[in-house]
Amino acid sequence: MEEPSVPISERQLFGLDGKVALVTGASKGIGEEIARLYARFGARVVVSSRRQSSVELVAAGIRKAGGEATGIAAHIGDSDQLRHLVDRTVALYGGIDILVNNAATNPVFGPAVDCSSVAFDKIMQVNVKAAFELAKMVFPVMKKQGRGSIIMMSSIAGQTPDPGLGIYSVSKAALNMLTKVLAREWGPDGIRVNAICPGLIKTKFSQALWDDEAILGRFVNHLPIPRMGSVEEISPLALFLASEASSYCTGSFFYADGGTNI
Ligand SMILES: NC(=O)c1ccc[n+]([C@@H]2O[C@H](COP(=O)([O-])OP(=O)(O)OC[C@H]3O[C@@H](n4cnc5c(N)ncnc54)[C@H](OP(=O)(O)O)[C@@H]3O)[C@@H](O)[C@H]2O)c1
Repeated sequence: MEEPSVPISERQLFGLDGKVALVTGASKGIGEEIARLYARFGARVVVSSRRQSSVELVAAGIRKAGGEATGIAAHIGDSDQLRHLVDRTVALYGGIDILVNNAATNPVFGPAVDCSSVAFDKIMQVNVKAAFELAKMVFPVMKKQGRGSIIMMSSIAGQTPDPGLGIYSVSKAALNMLTKVLAREWGPDGIRVNAICPGLIKTKFSQALWDDEAILGRFVNHLPIPRMGSVEEISPLALFLASEASSYCTGSFFYADGGTNI
């Protein structure tokens, strides 16, 4: 196999110039930070979550900072809204190069035995089925382009169950397998599929775990890096996986967890 003869500049390696990125759950937390970083590296970003006013706000902030972004609301549990999200993105920007399946839900905290079947279905619908549906809708667009990067926002809980987050952990384990399945099937079409597995990150989603010092201590005190992480410590992984720098990575899990996984 021949080595590339022209040295690739850093901008080419990590740059997203002209690429179109669709990020779900981008009105706050990890998704918002990913959307902002992608725009800083040249991508045209579609910012999505349930509320139009929230996604407008993030998109406007990106544009004010000199980037290109559009807010398109979609409840990811609703197939019609997902269809609209994909069609509008393609109509606006002409394609989709990067999909970040980031939005997720966890309506319950406690022993798995107390999780109702309604809550179970909701967790699976939003965290697993919606990610699959959206990836499936984006697939023909990426296949036609001959390239694409799909990033699943998983969790360390997908490997080791988080206390009190049993069925959420099941959903992230399923998302991990979905990552591998799609990576294997879509690789020949030039589409890479990888997952990011954060540890405890300070966002609204995890507030119940860091609001209380005692609970937070149980999660982080034993870690090699004995603190929770920030959204800025997750977004660079998403940049790597979206860019040419990760061109040989697919079906893999990338951890940023302070060493939880050791
Ligand atoms: N924070 C952590 O410690 C941690 C650890 C491991 C993994 N993760 C994963 O990281 C991802 C992002 O979490 P986060 O911590 O950044 O959470 P967050 O700050 O609460 O943000 C969640 C985002 O998802 C959107 N959202 C929620 N339900 C949605 C739905 N049904 N349809 C569309 N959008 C929806 C929310 O916007 P609206 O409410 O406006 O719709 C928001 O933009 C999730 O997949 C989570 O499982 C987080």
